[in-house]
Amino acid sequence: ILKLTLAILKPDVVKVPFVVQEIRHRILTAGFYVVQSRSVNLSHQEVEHFYSEHAGRFFHQRLVTFMKSGPIHVHILAHPEAIQLWRQTMGPTKSFITQFEAPETIRGSFGLTDTRNCTHGSDSLASALKEITFFFPKFNYEEWSEKH
Ligand code: CMP
Repeated sequence: ILKLTLAILKPDVVKVPFVVQEIRHRILTAGFYVVQSRSVNLSHQEVEHFYSEHAGRFFHQRLVTFMKSGPIHVHILAHPEAIQLWRQTMGPTKSFITQFEAPETIRGSFGLTDTRNCTHGSDSLASALKEITFFFPKFNYEEWSEKH
């Protein structure tokens, strides 16, 4: 049974075509099926809403400033172990450490700082569905899962 996750390529990545290409390549070689994609510029309010669970954290302001600094690429990815596999492909959040501990991962290869860490991935099926609805309001999860 295919499951879904939401993947985001963050603004710093989108600015570098080679890195976009390389991450897309890693998405496909990991075995994901790309269900839908879009490029989007988030407003201040949209970023605040998307990351509301991090409101109050010391890095929140820096995260919001970063995420609205340019276009992002958003993908719905499908795989039987979508959430787990995408998190594994990205590597741990903190790029500064990950570049030493898991250099083969996306964040380990291209992450710049703990905030500018290349990519985002949903952390559970419930948050994947919430995040998918946020970026793809017309996506019908029930209908999709009946077919897959
Ligand atoms: P993401 O997986 O999108 O979820 C929350 C984001 O907050 C995270 O990736 C980073 O971009 C950012 N973040 C998490 N922890 C830190 C940290 N310790 N310092 C700065 N930014 C962070």
